[in-house]
Amino acid sequence: MNDLVIETRALHKRFRTRNGHRVAVAGLDLAVPAGGVHGFLGPNGSGKTTTIRMLLGLARATSGQMWLFGQAVPARLPQVLPRIGAVVESPKFAPTFTGRQNLQLLARSIGVPDVQVDACLETVGLTGREKDRFGSYSLGMKQRLAIAATLLTSPDLLILDEPTNGLARPASGRSAR
Ligand SMILES: Nc1ncnc2c1ncn2[C@@H]1O[C@H](COP(=O)(O)OP(=O)(O)OP(=O)(O)O)[C@@H](O)[C@H]1O
Ligand SMILES: [Mg+2]
Repeated sequence: MNDLVIETRALHKRFRTRNGHRVAVAGLDLAVPAGGVHGFLGPNGSGKTTTIRMLLGLARATSGQMWLFGQAVPARLPQVLPRIGAVVESPKFAPTFTGRQNLQLLARSIGVPDVQVDACLETVGLTGREKDRFGSYSLGMKQRLAIAATLLTSPDLLILDEPTNGLARPASGRSAR
């Protein structure tokens, strides 16, 4: 059909509130072509997370249409989700397991070999800290581990909400004072 990986038309989301309702997304038309990086910018409360949640089937749209890889969602989500990696909420991992153990658990549950775990840890720059407990990671390290988890299956599309939260290049061993 076309090579849009994400498309929305006239997407609306209205939440019920105690005093009536709140419009979170008002007629969003989005067209994200394949093969690039698309930044989805807007002020706090402008509906970015809500849109991502609707695309992934975590929230229901009030009206409008959505497609992922040209497939209508949410109806076709079971077919397209295996091609997508996403970090939408704060990453949830077992705090007493190491970063590597957490990834291994995930990888084994989906039949991904351990070698891929190490490759993903390296890609996100966690090599050297992979044997530390997740609970001892900094915010950025937790975010890196979540990104590593999305890479285990080599997805065609990555959707990251607030992808740069806590991320910065490590300052070569220097600590804040
Ligand atoms: N479950 C909910 N019930 C009621 N209102 C909600 C709910 N979730 C989000 N909203 C409202 O929808 C609007 C959009 O919220 P959303 O989280 O999508 O914004 P955002 O663009 O991701 O903001 P931020 O930059 O702060 O992450 C906000 O006004 C928010 O208060
Ligand atoms: Mg948000």
